[in-house]
Amino acid sequence: MAMFLPDEFVERVRSESDLVSVVSTYVQLKRKGNRYWGCCPFHQEDTPSFSVKPDDGFFYCFGCHTGGNIFKFISLIENISYYEAILFQAERLNIPLPEREKTPAEIARDKKRDELRELHEMAGKFFHNCLTMTNYGKAGLAYFHKRGIGDDIIEEFQLGFAPDAWNKLTDAFAKRGVNTELLLESGLVVKRQQGNGEYDRFRNRVMIPIMDERGRICGFGGRIIAEGNPKYLNSPETMLFNKRKLLFGLDKAHRHISQAGFALVVEGYMDVISVFAAGIKNVVASLGTAFTVDQCKKLLRYAPAIYFCYDSDNAGQEAIARALGIAGETNAQIKVVQLPDGKDPDEFIQKYGAEEFRQVVSKAISVVDFRLKHIMAHSDVSGLEGRLRALTEMLPVLGDIKNSAERSAYVSKVAKLLSVSENDILVELTKKGHWHGTRQTDTRNVENVVRQVDDAGRRAGRVVIRMVWEEPAVLDHFISMVPLESVPDPVHRQILSGLNEKFRAGEPVKDIMSLSDLGDEATAELSRSLVEDLGEEDISLLYEACVRQLRRSFLASQYEVHSMNAERLHQQGDARYMDELAASQKIKQEMDELQSVD
Ligand code: CTP
Ligand code: MN
Repeated sequence: MAMFLPDEFVERVRSESDLVSVVSTYVQLKRKGNRYWGCCPFHQEDTPSFSVKPDDGFFYCFGCHTGGNIFKFISLIENISYYEAILFQAERLNIPLPEREKTPAEIARDKKRDELRELHEMAGKFFHNCLTMTNYGKAGLAYFHKRGIGDDIIEEFQLGFAPDAWNKLTDAFAKRGVNTELLLESGLVVKRQQGNGEYDRFRNRVMIPIMDERGRICGFGGRIIAEGNPKYLNSPETMLFNKRKLLFGLDKAHRHISQAGFALVVEGYMDVISVFAAGIKNVVASLGTAFTVDQCKKLLRYAPAIYFCYDSDNAGQEAIARALGIAGETNAQIKVVQLPDGKDPDEFIQKYGAEEFRQVVSKAISVVDFRLKHIMAHSDVSGLEGRLRALTEMLPVLGDIKNSAERSAYVSKVAKLLSVSENDILVELTKKGHWHGTRQTDTRNVENVVRQVDDAGRRAGRVVIRMVWEEPAVLDHFISMVPLESVPDPVHRQILSGLNEKFRAGEPVKDIMSLSDLGDEATAELSRSLVEDLGEEDISLLYEACVRQLRRSFLASQYEVHSMNAERLHQQGDARYMDELAASQKIKQEMDELQSVD
């Protein structure tokens, strides 16, 4: 739950943060003058257009026009809210949260969580020692070895074994004085239906500890080693064990996910272990439940792309379709890895080896190709009727493609696949309104492009913003030259009005950044104004020239207004047209004078 953060706290976190070093943990930066440059982490590029200006504490990308302060950067790169970014950075700097009395319920909860964590660590050690150091464990070791899992991987994943008995853990932990209520709550032991006492939940199973991304055990998955059901038994949901949020393997994988630029998502625990052991370490699995948006967002903190590699059986393919739907709600770049002949990743690696698996991963296909392939697989396209049916199914797939160049490419691909003409497909697409959503996106893109056209007027606006930032008192001068409501660019108008409000209220104008409600576009534009290189020029000279320019366009619009009024009044036989004419002439004169200055 979001709690109110006092200004002093936010200010302290900001002032103790070093923007350059924070950004550097994600982006390689090079210094040039009083600015740093690197390749933008928010869009694909090969030449650096991402710039950081440490003095002012802002970043801005001249390519994708993303910008803001340190918290904005963290929130974007970590995929968390602005509020969470402040807390994230505070934690990184070891700045304690503002003091607030905890309620007794909160204190009890914290205590319970700590106790559960400790209990899970103990249980992890217990199972691991059973596997590696006792006679009971021999069956488990044999099972792992048979599946090609060596001792190094057993150590790495802290794998364990739950003995084939009813109360080994129950007794051992009772002896150590562990509270029975806590044991029951963790799900490690279960209450007897009849009579008193408890018994071990996990028996005769190899044990796989499931950790959060910081490597703390939250629960266990146990695989049966004999015949029997269920094949996997998991810890029940507890305060620590949230199956919809955790991802198995993430503690070990996240570094590798960042490095590889994508996360490989597989279905099973054993798949993760095998794939990891084969040296492909950017691998995780969801916990026997469908892939969730929370899990997706968690992965996006580390890399922009997710490759799904699910079993090639029917269930796996259906699970993939669901996962694609979930991931499609986010901005993840998604691909699908296709395994041949009914295998899961673990079986594939056991049979064909690590190198072959790498090859398959490198051939991951796009979601569109996956969907088209899926349709082709169950369609009979030998006859005309079948081809038309397949086309009907493919139309929405084509309609979903946002990028028009990509869409054309797929239209021609489908045309070839089904031997129909591209033009017919286009006609059908339009008729069915399949790209309704797409059109909207297209207009938004156009607007973006238009906004990004950096005309001189907008540059002038940014210079004024920069000047006001450094010297708020110039606002009086500026407003006398150009009334705020006449600032031509709406975003500049918004920023300057915000700065003006702060100034009039006697507050530091720089506090405007504490308003997270400034909006993304205005935040980015403000950052750009502060980061932009103004050349060697003296800012106040530049400012004057820019104000003249904005005044000229202000005057030009006023001139229009008065001339039109004069014409209208003249036509109506109203004598006041003379006043309007005089006003317009006066404006004209000032415009000419201004012209001669520059
Ligand atoms: N799963 C589960 N409970 C079950 C069956 C499966 O929680 N009764 C989850 C587990 O996380 C398991 C995943 O679903 O890892 C995939 O299950 P499945 O494909 O059936 O097993 P495999 O991963 O192939 O396991 P193994 O190779 O050990 O047979
Ligand atoms: Mn398997």
